[in-house]
Amino acid sequence: METQIGNIKFSHPIFNASGPACTTLEELEIIGKSESSAIMMKTCSLEPREWNPEPRYKEVPLGSINSMGLPNLWYKKYVEFSHILKEKYKKPVIASVVWFCSTQACNNDFEIIVKAFQEDSLVDLIEVNLSCPNVVGKPQIAYDFETSDTILSLVENLWNKDIGIKLPPYFDPSHTNAMSEVIKKHPQVKFITCINSVGNTLIIDPETEQPIIKPKWGFGGLGGEYVKPIALANVRAFYKNLWESVKIIGAWGILNWIDVYEFLLAWASAVQLGTTFAKEGPEAFARIKKEFENYLEKKWKKSLDEVIGKLKEL
Ligand SMILES: Cc1cc2nc3c(=O)[nH]c(=O)nc-3n(C[C@H](O)[C@H](O)[C@H](O)COP(=O)(O)O)c2cc1C
Repeated sequence: METQIGNIKFSHPIFNASGPACTTLEELEIIGKSESSAIMMKTCSLEPREWNPEPRYKEVPLGSINSMGLPNLWYKKYVEFSHILKEKYKKPVIASVVWFCSTQACNNDFEIIVKAFQEDSLVDLIEVNLSCPNVVGKPQIAYDFETSDTILSLVENLWNKDIGIKLPPYFDPSHTNAMSEVIKKHPQVKFITCINSVGNTLIIDPETEQPIIKPKWGFGGLGGEYVKPIALANVRAFYKNLWESVKIIGAWGILNWIDVYEFLLAWASAVQLGTTFAKEGPEAFARIKKEFENYLEKKWKKSLDEVIGKLKEL
């Protein structure tokens, strides 16, 4: 069940996604005690951020829509938490960082965050979130390939361990190709996480004749079963471009072992659980891990290498 992202070994491929239930130390310790193979922390910014106005998260039959607005305690807390988490739970700890705007002043802000993790934290990997769709007035950076390139150069200059990028969904091969070209310019990028929410979707309640969430006129990030085929296609598309150099972490719509199996077949080396962990609690990691282990045994698979990327062409 062991898997590797960059230089870091994970005891198995299932851990939490940045966002749901990983903001406070108490929440992070729950992940530490669980069978999640790593502790991914909430995306953090230079200043503490409040939640967007309510209602900002709604479950719908095939998933969820959210516009949380990246609420977090601020980067210094996560630098501090990394010491406690690493010492107590002895598993990989991953920071998620965000960059909000494209002026020189913001570059300096971002430098402060990454430098602090470099100099004072015990995190093993950093995931650069280029894909939050829910900050009012801010675009998803990863749709701007030039700015993404600039940010990755900046991180490479400040951070000496492996880097990952949280990507939004892409819907056309020209875009996965363009992002792959950016990634190839940055050899320190050792993993990408596919995908963040499908941004700016709208769900309407016909009874009330209103959107079901409030921020951004009801436009929010869609996830769950609706999104899994888009996430799988993104994993596969990046595999075709980056297979030798960059590992992929799959995210969205992981409910059980079947989803894990499908993401690994497509080329993911690990998967992140968001909504299922938030709904079911930390037992979700143990349940899905056990189910997945049983399935591998039944299929006589001796290691994940016999599964990862082994999708058969029709
Ligand atoms: C309530 C909520 C908050 C989220 N916050 C973040 C975040 O702060 N940073 C981030 O990179 N992704 C965030 N995401 C996206 C998740 O990390 C992840 O891509 C997704 O939840 C995984 O899919 P799943 O929920 O179907 O398991 C959030 C998702 C939800 C539902």
